[in-house]
Amino acid sequence: MFGLEELQQKVLELKKELNAIIVAHNYQRPEVQNIADLTGDSLELARKCAGNKAETIVFCGVRFMAETAAILNPSSTVLLSHADAGCPLADMIDVERLRQWKEKYPEAAVVAYVNTTAAVKAESDFCCTSANGVEVVDAVPSEEILFVPDQNLGHYVSTKTSKKMILYPGFCNTHAKLTAEEVKLAKQRYPQAKVLVHPECRPEVIDLADAALSTSQMLRYAKQSNHKVFLIGTEEGILHSLREQNSDKEFHLISDGFICPDMKKTTLETVIETMQTRSNVVTVPEEIGIRAKQAIDKMLDIT
Ligand code: 13P
Repeated sequence: MFGLEELQQKVLELKKELNAIIVAHNYQRPEVQNIADLTGDSLELARKCAGNKAETIVFCGVRFMAETAAILNPSSTVLLSHADAGCPLADMIDVERLRQWKEKYPEAAVVAYVNTTAAVKAESDFCCTSANGVEVVDAVPSEEILFVPDQNLGHYVSTKTSKKMILYPGFCNTHAKLTAEEVKLAKQRYPQAKVLVHPECRPEVIDLADAALSTSQMLRYAKQSNHKVFLIGTEEGILHSLREQNSDKEFHLISDGFICPDMKKTTLETVIETMQTRSNVVTVPEEIGIRAKQAIDKMLDIT
């Protein structure tokens, strides 16, 4: 068993050896975020990876995020920090099901949430993240949008746009668990708190919140706000940066156990093992990568 400092030292050595950068999503464990060169939400990580020249990108997050990094950096080797870190939401739609829905709605432009496989992105017209869903949908040159796969994010976007939105019935297991009742109870306990939730939460939860924001938007909101107490409705990993960047403010999760099991598969040990063995290489077939990149690039151009 090694101590924290030895593990961190080992990561630094391996980073040099592999000429690697380490990127971590805001939901990662604090000790993993602390060794990362870049942290952020899905949009920021896509953007930051897009301009990167590192030989190796070690992606601490889940598979669809590492796939996006691989699509945007065909010359880098992308390693995922744990072989089985997936996203049940992304797995709720595959190419076959998407094609069936497209046949039902031939006039609709397809906007795919970034939480999808590369193959689904390749079948879509535009990509979006929780940070820019409204902006992307408004910019699509079509009045009818087929939004996949997160129905809660899709519903939230539909409340902010005049476009006709067809929602595929997918959801995030972690966010959809949060109930309106839990929000009401938390508000009773902290009546002065601002309530920030992720747009993957249910509509009735979003209705009770002060804002529905991506994880990095929450960080910016908290920093700029004069309020001192916040109730947070997203995965607990975000608390690390919220608290670190705002030592004068209080942050409480709306419900205990707000944990994404896949995000938590990554530990410092799995990062080290991945780097030592150069394993979990994430590749996307060229033909799929080219088409998926078009949907991602269109999003990056809009935002
Ligand atoms: P963000 O893009 O807001 O960080 O969210 C990613 C995600 O997968 C939420 O479940």
